[in-house]
Amino acid sequence: MVRYDIAGLNRQFASSSPVETLRYFLDLFGNRIAVSSSLSIEDQALTDMAWRIRGDARVFTLDTGRLFPETYSLIDKTNLQYGKKIEVFFPDCVMVQEMVNRDGINLFYESVEKRRECCRVRKIEPLRRAFAGLDAWICGLRREQSVTRKDMQPVEWDENNGLLKVNPLFDRTEEQVWQYIRENNVPYNVLHDKGYPSIGCQPCTRAVAAGEDIRAGRWWWEAPEHKECGLHKR
Ligand code: ADX
Ligand code: SF4
Repeated sequence: MVRYDIAGLNRQFASSSPVETLRYFLDLFGNRIAVSSSLSIEDQALTDMAWRIRGDARVFTLDTGRLFPETYSLIDKTNLQYGKKIEVFFPDCVMVQEMVNRDGINLFYESVEKRRECCRVRKIEPLRRAFAGLDAWICGLRREQSVTRKDMQPVEWDENNGLLKVNPLFDRTEEQVWQYIRENNVPYNVLHDKGYPSIGCQPCTRAVAAGEDIRAGRWWWEAPEHKECGLHKR
């Protein structure tokens, strides 16, 4: 396995702009790196930057089967606007079938364990397939987003998956991301204008009130320290 000097890379990219970081890693890995997109404002900004840097940059999304209709519309709109295709990975139908027949269609409300099982079947397993042929992945994580992310670095060794993980927006604020979206006419999820700052699956996301934490609407029935789907273990 290739060994990376993670500390050195983090010194190198500590004060780089997202575009500088992206350009370096897209050029280094070519088609062995991809943006992992949930269609959030962060991921839409990264997709725009990546496709400007390299027309053949890869972008994929995990369609859990439980996304908002507005999110599906955004996938379509983005593909049309850029004349490109976000690659879609879908969960294994037999795994979903067994899970819902055993634990119920909306099992996630019953316990943290059942919610994690749903995320495992609908996100983690497809993510493993998305990783085939990749040496690195690019995520839209930001420090500001939650207590679980406050120490994150621009470059991490993703021990669970054996891949390099690049977070070009790690130190950006939400306002800076919105500024990029507006200035570059990047398509975004219409739910953001209806009180949804952070959007995941439909049954696990609700609108938040003014002044509430940006992730308060995600898995709102769980404690903040549990609010990770397993994509980003730390
Ligand atoms: S989560 O852990 O709460 O679900 P969040 O929605 O904040 O994650 O997204 C953080 C990053 O994880 C995104 O910027 C994106 O890189 C990746 N990600 C999250 N959901 C998906 C998805 N459905 N498909 C692809 N990547 C995703
Ligand atoms: Fe299932 Fe909710 Fe996780 Fe989506 S966010 S995979 S619906 S538990």
